[in-house]
Amino acid sequence: MRLAGKVAIVTGAAQGIGSTLARGLAAEGAKVVIADVLDGSATAAAITSAQGSALYIKTDVASAASVGAMVEATVKQFGTVDILVNNAAIFASLGNKKFEDISSEEFDKVMAVNVRGPFECARAVSPIMRAKGAGKIINISSGTVFKGVPNLLHYVSSKGAVVAMTRCLAREFGASNVNVNAIAPGLTMSDGVLGQSDWTQDYIEANKNSRALKRRQVPGDLLGTVVFLSSSDSDFMTGQTLVVDGGNVMH
Ligand SMILES: NC(=O)c1ccc[n+]([C@@H]2O[C@H](COP(=O)([O-])OP(=O)(O)OC[C@H]3O[C@@H](n4cnc5c(N)ncnc54)[C@H](O)[C@@H]3O)[C@@H](O)[C@H]2O)c1
Repeated sequence: MRLAGKVAIVTGAAQGIGSTLARGLAAEGAKVVIADVLDGSATAAAITSAQGSALYIKTDVASAASVGAMVEATVKQFGTVDILVNNAAIFASLGNKKFEDISSEEFDKVMAVNVRGPFECARAVSPIMRAKGAGKIINISSGTVFKGVPNLLHYVSSKGAVVAMTRCLAREFGASNVNVNAIAPGLTMSDGVLGQSDWTQDYIEANKNSRALKRRQVPGDLLGTVVFLSSSDSDFMTGQTLVVDGGNVMH
């Protein structure tokens, strides 16, 4: 129970990687808020049925008002916020698209959720973490940033911004003893990815074969790193991006 008594917010935890992270943080003793536009009650129920504490709060991370209300409800229910995992993003539903075919509207929507979302959440928890003089913020970026993956320009650009934001936040939060780090996963068999037919089995196999560790990545592969970055074991690490992808990108 490395996170006993801690309160964690995991955005985008209704499904996919976020759901696995929320359940894993709860198994380490954290009380977890599932903040998602989709119904996250199944993730919350899985945690409570395993004797953990969880609360689903419908949240749009691209809305400052929605994020503010979510953080307020978190504090009302659990008293504080110790850990923020900025996981929510628009990803697999985007499919493959040449950059010339990306509309301005879709570009803006991806930036609003994937870049402004983590910003809104960090800003909303800031007064709580600064007052405590402690906190852990973990931003989910992507290995695509380091490879310049084609046909997803808006997504890859948004995740590059997350790496940059992680560094800026680490500098600004340092005096308050708040750690801000990022994780760059490789292609992971999440609900979103499994539901995207643009990425064929051949594409997924080729991705697997470009790794040092030759197997498909699953959401649970990210949990150990998230628990590490949430715990006191990482107290002197900040501003870093850890690539967790079975040795594809070597960053
Ligand atoms: N799966 C991968 O291959 C992979 C690789 C690298 C990085 N990532 C990143 O990991 C994270 C999770 O990805 P996933 O594959 O599990 O995705 P997913 O599509 O399975 O789940 C994403 C979740 O985010 C939620 N969400 C979307 N917009 C939201 C909003 N405006 N407000 C609140 N919640 C919102 C969705 O409802 C969904 O529950 C994302 O940040 C993604 O970019 C995924």
